[in-house]
Amino acid sequence: MLSRYLKLVWCSFLLSMQLSLTAAQGQTPPLHVYLTWQGEDTSHQIVVNFHTQGKKGGASKVYYDEASKNGDLKQYTFKAEGGFKEITGLVDRHFHEVQLNNLSPGKEYYFIVGDDVNGFSEERKFKTLPLDGPLRIAQGGDIGISESSIKMSRQVASYSPDVIVLGGDLVYAVGTVANIGKWDEWFSMLEKNLITPDGRTIPLIVAVGNHDVSVGEFSPLFSYFFPQGGATYFDRKLGKNTVLFVLDSGHIASYHGAQLTWLQQALKKHSDAKNKIAVYHVPLYPSFRPYILSLPARRAWLGLFDAFHLNVAFEHHDHAFKRTHPLRDGKKVSEAEGTIYLGDGAWGKPPRRVHTRAWYLKKASSTNHFWLVDLNDSSAEYKAISIDGKVIDHFSLNF
Ligand SMILES: [Fe+2]
Repeated sequence: MLSRYLKLVWCSFLLSMQLSLTAAQGQTPPLHVYLTWQGEDTSHQIVVNFHTQGKKGGASKVYYDEASKNGDLKQYTFKAEGGFKEITGLVDRHFHEVQLNNLSPGKEYYFIVGDDVNGFSEERKFKTLPLDGPLRIAQGGDIGISESSIKMSRQVASYSPDVIVLGGDLVYAVGTVANIGKWDEWFSMLEKNLITPDGRTIPLIVAVGNHDVSVGEFSPLFSYFFPQGGATYFDRKLGKNTVLFVLDSGHIASYHGAQLTWLQQALKKHSDAKNKIAVYHVPLYPSFRPYILSLPARRAWLGLFDAFHLNVAFEHHDHAFKRTHPLRDGKKVSEAEGTIYLGDGAWGKPPRRVHTRAWYLKKASSTNHFWLVDLNDSSAEYKAISIDGKVIDHFSLNF
């Protein structure tokens, strides 16, 4: 008992010495540590993103290991280095990106991030996505910064998803650097609340929304903070049988041109995948806004979704709950033939009244929710879960 007490006192002393040393050296440890990917492989790689507010620190570093090393960087077996970017218009803010390679699927790793000048973060852990067996996705969008956003984030994390897929309208801070304070607040909210009950940081896959950009101009902050390989449209493999297509509803990339060419090629490349899902911001089948407003999106993408038989599309922007009938060629069809459209982005924003008579809607309501998806070898189970943890919709799809 006495030795345990002495050990506690010694640990407290070491921690206070470390903090004092950091302050004395003028170090500013990293802020906003979060995880994404640059390429389609989510089982052997991960990208650690972090921000620093201070001096340029040379190489951006991640020390990592399969076991906890309690933040002692000399003890970690693996080390990876990456680069940082200065952000035009922001003084002393740097965005860092470090890719870790040759990881094992479905495995936990402990890590710290930082650089030699600014110091290092406290230890966190992540898990790569499994290749075999079950994989759990949490999906939602239109988040903002509010009591509802926080409560929903806690609800999402309580289900221990392997990955969170966001459908845009993250911060409601557009692209301008003048709103960096809102981004800081949003990232802090995520870092504190999107942690699983066993302390794991959950990786993100992010689509862009209209409130993430400044009207008519390139969006510096979104593009700095979520490069994800360099474009706002890309694909990610989720386990053995599922491919996710992340699309841009015309906010940074046009519906047509390079994005449309890429989508056609990507769907062709993954045509053998059993389960194809898409995520984007503006709904093709809206629950709140007039149907006519989504005509440009339907004209651009619907033919491809039908031709390559997309199983499910996650839509946002309208701030409501919805599930459509299975649809193909603008008509209701059987589950085996059609695409089901789920939405519509109600993570944290107040939900809107829905137009319940739309021919394509199977279910809709004015309810804050997120979608929980459990992928298995030959089926997927979809649940819409309210901010209070109530299952408001549930269905399964075989593939
Ligand atoms: Fe939106």
